Amino acid sequence: MRIYLDNAATTPLCDTVLEAMLPYLKNNYGNPSSTHQEGRTARAGIERARKSVALAIKASTSEIIFTSGGTEANNTAIKCAVRDLGVQRIISSAVEHSCVFSTVNRMRNEQIEVELVELDSTGRANLEHLERLLKEGSKKTLVSLMHANNEVGTLNPIDKIGALCKQYDAYFHTDTVQSIGHIPIDVSKLNINFLSGSGHKLHGPKGVGFLYINKHNIIDAYIDGGGQERKVRSGTENVASIIGLGKAIELAIEHLEARRIEIEVVRDYFIQELKANFPAVHINGDYAGAYLFTVLNVSFKTSTPINMLLFKLDLKGISASGGSACNSGAVTASRVLTTLGIPEGYHSARFSFSHFNKKEEVDYTIAQLKEIV
Ligand SMILES: Cc1ncc(COP(=O)(O)O)c(C=O)c1O
Repeated sequence: MRIYLDNAATTPLCDTVLEAMLPYLKNNYGNPSSTHQEGRTARAGIERARKSVALAIKASTSEIIFTSGGTEANNTAIKCAVRDLGVQRIISSAVEHSCVFSTVNRMRNEQIEVELVELDSTGRANLEHLERLLKEGSKKTLVSLMHANNEVGTLNPIDKIGALCKQYDAYFHTDTVQSIGHIPIDVSKLNINFLSGSGHKLHGPKGVGFLYINKHNIIDAYIDGGGQERKVRSGTENVASIIGLGKAIELAIEHLEARRIEIEVVRDYFIQELKANFPAVHINGDYAGAYLFTVLNVSFKTSTPINMLLFKLDLKGISASGGSACNSGAVTASRVLTTLGIPEGYHSARFSFSHFNKKEEVDYTIAQLKEIV
């Protein structure tokens, strides 16, 4: 028996998604750029998927491009905003996913000024500081702040951040890789210029994602070639995976509320049992306020190093993580948790849920943790 509590790293592919993909791996093998029947069938599938993604965030289909995942979507947004939109200054944060954090850092080499917004103890951007930064700068600015933090689950108020960006004439890019399909997002009501998503965080396939580019922001090619994906991202499309992403996001939106309730029941039970069995436990992030319900980051007062703790859990059949998946296996401390400051003598694990998790799995996990911690 395996208990999978690492859904922020990736989620299992849902059966309906696989069924939707299979014809495009077999019979519908056409190149979507071909004009014959096979090509037209593949093209029609891609455009249906684009419609599903657009509908999910209330965008128009012309504002969605498919990418190889969240990493590429975020790279495209930031690098193209600098190259094509005259951005000379970026305001971001120390708790962004490394694909944003490293990209922003790299932009320093392009003579881009970088400011990091202050955060509260849960990892949420301080809006007063953000406003001060926006007010004082004279250079064209891009604000890049994530919606849900992938390690601790804290949510940023993207409505308010968007409004500030509008007020001070800055561009706004938000990484919604963790939140899309879990928390409703309506770009028609928010001031967002770029927004990223990824298939494998919502029971879709890996290696596919999307970038929403607001229709008023014209960017040039990020990958040159045959001119696919509105000439921004050339290369023959990953047809089956795009179909999978489309189906996965459709299902996530259709079952959003039902899945949320199921996951919150398991998560609440986990928190209750953690507090009852580990009185010194510390839960990181804004876990009781504005949070992403799939993520729970827990610090245990223990002398067992986190890698050992995770290893022992794994041996018992439980998959959890020490932070983001990119960090798993690494001995280095999580940048996010170091930024937020974890008390001395505590070690942190991330448990992340999907609607496939059950309360009985929590009972087993708590029993194992009692032996290990
Ligand atoms: C917040 C966030 N952004 C971006 C990514 C990268 O997405 P992908 O794995 O599709 O490249 C991840 C994946 O862990 C993430 O959690």
